Amino acid sequence: MKISVCGKGGSGKSTIVTLLAGEAQSRGYKVLVVDSDESNAGLFRILGFSQPPVPLMEIVGGKKKIISTLRDPASSELAPKAMVLTQDRIAIEDIPWENMVERDNLRLVSIGKILQALEGCACPFGVLSREFLKRLDEGDNGLVIVDMEAGVEHFGRGVEESVDSVLIVVEPSFESLELAGRINSLANGTGIKNVSAILNKVPSDDIASRLEGELVKRSIRVIGCIHHDSELFDSSLEGGTLRAGGAAEEIRGVLDSMLSKPNG
Ligand SMILES: Nc1ncnc2c1ncn2[C@@H]1O[C@H](COP(=O)(O)OP(=O)(O)O)[C@@H](O)[C@H]1O
Ligand SMILES: [Mg+2]
Repeated sequence: MKISVCGKGGSGKSTIVTLLAGEAQSRGYKVLVVDSDESNAGLFRILGFSQPPVPLMEIVGGKKKIISTLRDPASSELAPKAMVLTQDRIAIEDIPWENMVERDNLRLVSIGKILQALEGCACPFGVLSREFLKRLDEGDNGLVIVDMEAGVEHFGRGVEESVDSVLIVVEPSFESLELAGRINSLANGTGIKNVSAILNKVPSDDIASRLEGELVKRSIRVIGCIHHDSELFDSSLEGGTLRAGGAAEEIRGVLDSMLSKPNG
């Protein structure tokens, strides 16, 4: 199963990805986190790794090469280790070792990062994300969790073409609710059956019901609520591995719900 975690910048996508990954790992799943947010550099740290993997974009030789390479693998002079990206099926074991960091049953790969100002448009990242996710075979007992870039552009680039579920992270703000509505229609338009929302950074149960009401009006199913967690907040201020208080409990039901069959 492949899950795409989407939402507004700062709503808590990377946090939710980390909580879900930790919970799934403790249940014995082989978890692969795909970092598809080119503007955020700290996912490896909150997942508990000491360094990030080399982004897949780098084995292709940068953004300019990616589109021609994937369109016509024969015509480009690809480095041998980049050929893996042109395979019809990419198993986890096929991913070059420097492009993945791993610990127990938790792995992280990264699509690419914006390293300089004026690097140009982000489309090649979208193309690489889409093609990688399409070809990626998570294997038995495998769970792929994608930390998606903020906003909705990735839908325009077809990145969600091959994911099974979309989880929208919603923080208490009008912007976040509006964006959830747009994500929901785009995901439905892509044909993804399993679209749901998780409330995050919720200060009170009253706010939780108001948010849920707003989401229901937009025909979005809410599968969980993560309250504001001060331990988690402190750990993100300190830097280093994410430490959660109540959020670690609250994520369990969310994972149960994601792993059960699509609601139809
Ligand atoms: N439930 C929560 N309680 C407290 N702080 C949170 C919670 N969820 C996220 N945060 C904090 O909000 C900030 C943004 O979260 P992050 O996961 O980086 O968002 P995104 O990946 O969507 O940009 C981080 O500092 C994070 O620690
Ligand atoms: Mg993030």
